[in-house]
Formats: sequence, C-alpha cells, structure tokens
Amino acid sequence: MSDMFIATSMPDRDWWAALWPDPEGVLRALGVQPEMTVVDLCCGDGYFTAPLARIVGGRVYALDIDPAMINQARGETARQGVSVSNWIVADAREVAALTPEEVDYVFIANTFHGVSDQTALARAVADILKQSGLFTIVNWHDFPRERTAVMGQPRGPKTEMRMTPDSVRAAVEPAGFHLARVVDLQPYHYGTIFERTL
Ligand SMILES: C[S@@+](CC[C@H](N)C(=O)[O-])C[C@H]1O[C@@H](n2cnc3c(N)ncnc32)[C@H](O)[C@@H]1O
Repeated sequence: MSDMFIATSMPDRDWWAALWPDPEGVLRALGVQPEMTVVDLCCGDGYFTAPLARIVGGRVYALDIDPAMINQARGETARQGVSVSNWIVADAREVAALTPEEVDYVFIANTFHGVSDQTALARAVADILKQSGLFTIVNWHDFPRERTAVMGQPRGPKTEMRMTPDSVRAAVEPAGFHLARVVDLQPYHYGTIFERTL
C-alpha cells in the first residue's frame, strides 16, 4: 500500500501477545474510560481494538489503511464478543473528514514513529477531539533494537526510528495539545497522553 507509513506492518500475533499480555489493562492505565467515544487510529488486526470496545461499550471508530487488517480486526472483535460501531478503511491523514462527530479519545499505537508529517496528523486528530479530549500515542522506547527482544529475537522499529517522549511532545504540541502525562508501559513501551488545548 503506497500511502502506508514506513515501518508499520502488523507484528505476528505470537510475539505480540507475549509482549502485551494485558491490552485492556494497558488501555485503562492510559485513561480509557467507560462511555467514552474513541478512535483507534491504525488499528491493525484489532489487538487493542477489541479491549478498547469492551471498556467503552462499543463506541469505537476503528481505522486502518489495509482492508485485510480491518477484516482481521472485525473477526477478532466478533471472536471476543464485542461490538465496534464503525469500521473505516482509509488513510489516517483523512480521519477528520471521516469522523462525523467529536470524540473523547484518540488512540494510536506502534505507528507514530513512521508518520512523515507528525504535526499534520496531530492537527487532524485535534479537529475531531472535543475540547479537553485526549490523544494518546504509544511508542517503543528509544532503546537500541537489540535490547528489545521478545521470544528470543530483537523486535520493533530500527533504533534510529525510535522516538523519545520529548520528541513526540515537540511534534504534537504545536498542533494544539499539551502533554498531560507519560505512562511507562513495561517492558519496552511508553504512552504519551496529550490533552487538546485549542
Ligand atoms: C504496527 S501496526 C499496529 C497496529 C495496532 N495499533 C497495534 O498496536 O496492535 C500499524 C498499522 O498501521 C497501519 N497503517 C500504516 N499506514 C497507515 C496509514 N497511512 N493510514 C492508516 N493506517 C495505516 C498498518 O496497516 C498497520 O495495520
């Protein structure tokens, strides 16, 4: 897919599940709460989409550029018995045109490092968030890749593509956000939680 962000293909489920044994706990630690309306931007095969939908009660816009990912995510949520109100096959940069209401929370995991114009994407997110809505970005820590092994092999983006919380902040705050919190997600990730200010 030509418009895909670089180095953002979906990891294999075996080591992904070993790395993230409790995706629902991660989402709760990142401030996702019942009754929120949320967007799962670049949702992949639904690994986080299903628990997200379970927490909020189904009010989820799940978007990915790859129709095969959306199909897998649909299958995964059905298998887990949770419903997702909106499935969208599209480029994340078009999210503002495709979300017909303001939402409480936008979640993007394991993808932001590959986005070419990160501030522009953050602006598109700001356009669909309610005042004081939250934008959470989950990234691999900027550890050397050889240090982030799962099931015996180094995993995650190349070392030089990894971002620090400060570099995420520098990209996102100019779009109308302030960094509210950084949450460490053991063993290799962190979440930056931004609040919309404009
Ligand atoms: C590494 S996967 C992460 C999936 C999921 N967020 C997770 O953490 O389990 C990145 C996903 O981003 C999607 N993606 C890449 N470029 C995109 C774009 N421009 N617009 C929307 N989705 C995109 C890919 O198809 C892939 O499913």
